[in-house]
Amino acid sequence: MRNWTALVIASLVALAAGAQPTVPDKAFHDPLRGTTPLNEEPRPPLMSPTENSDVIRGRAYAQQPPTIPHKIDGYQLDRNANKCMECHAGSRAAQSGAVPVGISHYTNRAGETLGHLAPRRYFCTQCHVPQADAKPLVANTFTGIEDIRTQAAPQARKK
Ligand code: HEC
Ligand code: HEC
Repeated sequence: MRNWTALVIASLVALAAGAQPTVPDKAFHDPLRGTTPLNEEPRPPLMSPTENSDVIRGRAYAQQPPTIPHKIDGYQLDRNANKCMECHAGSRAAQSGAVPVGISHYTNRAGETLGHLAPRRYFCTQCHVPQADAKPLVANTFTGIEDIRTQAAPQARKK
């Protein structure tokens, strides 16, 4: 009986030893953090200037909130005032030359179209962001569904 218990304990110890994580031979570096050791503060990269070209950018996929092609520094956007709507409200577009917000921005979550901006679309910068001409920190191979469809088309035709 004692022998049997010893055998079980021995095999459990062996299992635990086998499950130990293996240390990779190459040092691991987080691409966002760089090579600075974890216990040291990295020097932050310089901030890229905001692009202010006023040129409407393409969208990466159909439902993407368009990025903001102009500076928004100092624009008030809180419960007291919405600077964005001074130009982007449908009623202001002719005067400001801005793209008016779509009907989706006046539709609440129950699907009802309101006479004013829907609360869930009030804080514009939740979804729309200005851009900087900065190098991507990690590689990205994202392709929109349209592109996938055109790439898959020749194969589909073969069948
Ligand atoms: C002074 C007027 C003005 C204000 C204020 C303003 N915009 Fe604009 N916005 C424009 C104009 C004009 C354009 C068209 C492109 C251009 O000239 O920059 C534009 C373009 C955009 C676009 C691109 C639309 C598309 O179809 O690609 C987005 C998104 C946008 N603005 C969001 C915002 C947000 C969010 C705010 C508030 C933080 C804001 N704008 C404040 C005038 C304004
Ligand atoms: C919850 C996310 C969200 C919020 C908040 C939001 N938007 Fe949008 N916006 C979108 C999406 C998604 C689109 C693209 C599809 C559409 O038109 O609904 C869009 C489209 C737009 C466009 C382009 C319209 C067109 O017809 O090309 C403008 C301009 C815009 N938004 C401005 C604003 C402004 C100004 C605010 C704040 C008052 C705002 N958005 C708040 C998600 C959002």
